[in-house]
Amino acid sequence: MKICCIGAGYVGGPTMAVIAMKCPDVRVDVVDINKKRIDAWNSDSLPVFEPGLDAVVRAVRGKNLFFSTDVAGAVSAADIVFISVNTPTKTYGVGAGRASELKYVEACARQIADVSTTDKIVVEKSTMPVRTADVIRQILSSCDSGVKFQVLSNPEFLAEGTAVKDLENPDRVLIGGDDKTAEGRAAIKTLAGLYARWVDPKRIIETNLWSSELSKLTANAFLAQRISSINAISALCEATGADVDEVAAAVGADSRIGPKFLKSSVGFGGSCFQKDLLNLVYLCEHFNLPEAARYWQNVLDMNAYQKRRFAAWVVKDLFGSLSGKKIAVFGFSFKENTNDTRESPAIDVCRNLLSEGAKLAIYDPKVSQEQIYSDLNIGEEKIPGDGGVEICSSPYEASKDSYAITVLTAWGEFACLDYVKIYKTMKKPAWIFDGRNCLDGDLLRRLGYRVRAVGKSFE
Ligand code: NAD
Ligand code: UGA
Repeated sequence: MKICCIGAGYVGGPTMAVIAMKCPDVRVDVVDINKKRIDAWNSDSLPVFEPGLDAVVRAVRGKNLFFSTDVAGAVSAADIVFISVNTPTKTYGVGAGRASELKYVEACARQIADVSTTDKIVVEKSTMPVRTADVIRQILSSCDSGVKFQVLSNPEFLAEGTAVKDLENPDRVLIGGDDKTAEGRAAIKTLAGLYARWVDPKRIIETNLWSSELSKLTANAFLAQRISSINAISALCEATGADVDEVAAAVGADSRIGPKFLKSSVGFGGSCFQKDLLNLVYLCEHFNLPEAARYWQNVLDMNAYQKRRFAAWVVKDLFGSLSGKKIAVFGFSFKENTNDTRESPAIDVCRNLLSEGAKLAIYDPKVSQEQIYSDLNIGEEKIPGDGGVEICSSPYEASKDSYAITVLTAWGEFACLDYVKIYKTMKKPAWIFDGRNCLDGDLLRRLGYRVRAVGKSFE
């Protein structure tokens, strides 16, 4: 069997690497139009940082896993083609700012139609609005080569930072297809058979196409909703003396609620929660369901509020002015254990602090200076320290002479720093704003810091 995956990003790369590892007899080609990315996948410095990924790629690359820019060649040779390209929020025209941009998916479907000479199963791996499979089908069925295509939906549920673990041991694999025809059922069986090599068949869920597409959006909406719910409570905790971690533990102990995804924070980030919620809101409006649209929009509004609230603390506690004050930023990625900064709350918080005149000293163990500058729209002509943003190679360098430390990503190393040493080098009063509740606030207070943490009362 030959598999091709179009799109060598955060999903395509890790997903195909794990498939190649679990299915040594299957040839897996991952293709992309971005040559720089493909070159990186073929190098010792992979474009995606994920714990455990290097070892998996090293074990199978060049054996049954191949990365290349030959999209047409790999598609034409494949039995199964996964579409794993980006589906960002549309920025123009109808649905701008909310609908998903499907031009990359459409381009893939057209290319598959153009180059195919043998029957294929085409799998939606990207997150798509419900009923996108119809668009793909229409494009594929309009080619007159006589080639037959089956379209399946197989959304990905991995989370960044734990991608390899999630792929090796998924809660479930979801496969949506045309269960009304024998060809459709056969295609579902083929894809399910591939996963069944390492996933318990009880965890492989088969549905119709539209349920599968909508389940992916719904899963992300529910996860984001839990975070916004606990973040709403965090504001109330700060006002009342309740502790958000204690509330989350007590609430999560109810087996109907469960303990996961109740960690209050400076807000959720990542490439998908906001994009998928915006898309859900757009779909609700499109189908004339304004009340449902408003409900999901509130989850996003709460997230924006949480990020604003955090930045407002810093301004208020530093006596209403950040002008010329050095503020250390610990962490820039949207969560720990990834180098991905897409929609990171750090971007909004940093922009907000910069607009107040702060001089930011940013340290992140995995995000490059180039990426941070690009996210903050800092031009090449600005040199570090001169444009209000300095990228530091250690948290100690970032915090030296600063008025405050803001913790924006819960990298494990931040809990283990020498805060006695850091305190001595900071301006006084030395502030710590813990946006991830990942530091020991009581200990820091004993060391002399003033500490504010999400959902905790101040001192
Ligand atoms: P990404 O931007 O990292 O990668 C997409 C890749 O597709 C890019 O490298 C791009 O160059 C390539 N591409 C675009 N058009 C192409 C074309 N016509 N031919 C060849 N290559 C093309 O995106 P991602 O984070 O991997 O996400 C991909 C999809 O998976 C999205 O729909 C996303 O919502 C979904 N998803 C992402 C995650 C995640 O953790 N990032 C998890 C689950 C689902
Ligand atoms: C999320 C989902 O968890 C995946 O199932 C899904 O496949 C993926 O989106 C996607 O479709 O892209 P991801 O965004 O990679 O995965 O990471 P999460 O662990 O979900 O974290 C998202 C954001 O929420 C991060 O900023 C994280 O710090 C924040 N978060 C998470 C909290 O603030 N509190 C929590 O309790 C959990």
